[in-house]
Amino acid sequence: SDSSEGEGKDKLVMATNAEFPPYEYYEGDEIVGIDAEFAKAIADKLGAELSIEDMAFDSIIPAVQSGKADFAAAGITVTDERKTQVDFSDSYYTGRQVIIVSADNNDITKPEDLEGKKIGVQLGTTGDLYSSDDYGDENVERYNKGVEAVQALQQGKIDAVIIDDQPAQTFVKENEGLKILDTEYVEEAYAFCFKKGSDLTDKVNDAIAELKKDGTFDKIVEKYINA
Ligand code: ARG
Repeated sequence: SDSSEGEGKDKLVMATNAEFPPYEYYEGDEIVGIDAEFAKAIADKLGAELSIEDMAFDSIIPAVQSGKADFAAAGITVTDERKTQVDFSDSYYTGRQVIIVSADNNDITKPEDLEGKKIGVQLGTTGDLYSSDDYGDENVERYNKGVEAVQALQQGKIDAVIIDDQPAQTFVKENEGLKILDTEYVEEAYAFCFKKGSDLTDKVNDAIAELKKDGTFDKIVEKYINA
């Protein structure tokens, strides 16, 4: 590359899906958010230049496995199944799967009420995996973006959306007539992921520990959550 900014620095390619506020989303044509900023701070610690590649969520793990990306940061939940495909860093944050319904829906108040209902999810996410397992594949509508599921709910095409709590809050704020149920569905741990055997994993774990200890991580979270 001939950019003077990154000259002489190793480049770290991060895979993400920038449809997931406040973790990664576009502000103009820049990808911002907790993951984007945290990854930048980690890259700085490692003396590397960060380059973010936006892609479909279900392309992220394949991109890491093939080496197209050096790692991924996308609010990715650690699961046993994914652990067979990639290595995970230490977890840096906790997420929850929540249920969004229409504000005037008194029918669905808890996870069990979703039996036989049409549930919208983002393709390939844990919301997709869990609801397919719990409520049957045929009841799950998969969208490329979480916000598209939320808009389908708003239009009455589906009965509920299952998605991570922070994006849920953003989407419900930005799309009228919806509410998040008080009952949470599943709690999960977010982590970065790497190609199996990558020597980056340990380095990133050290950087995570340092940036948590010195308050950098908390500052980033405060900037994006409840700010
Ligand atoms: N935590 C969920 C998962 O790992 C959803 C992550 C979606 N992330 C995104 N950037 N769209 O499946």
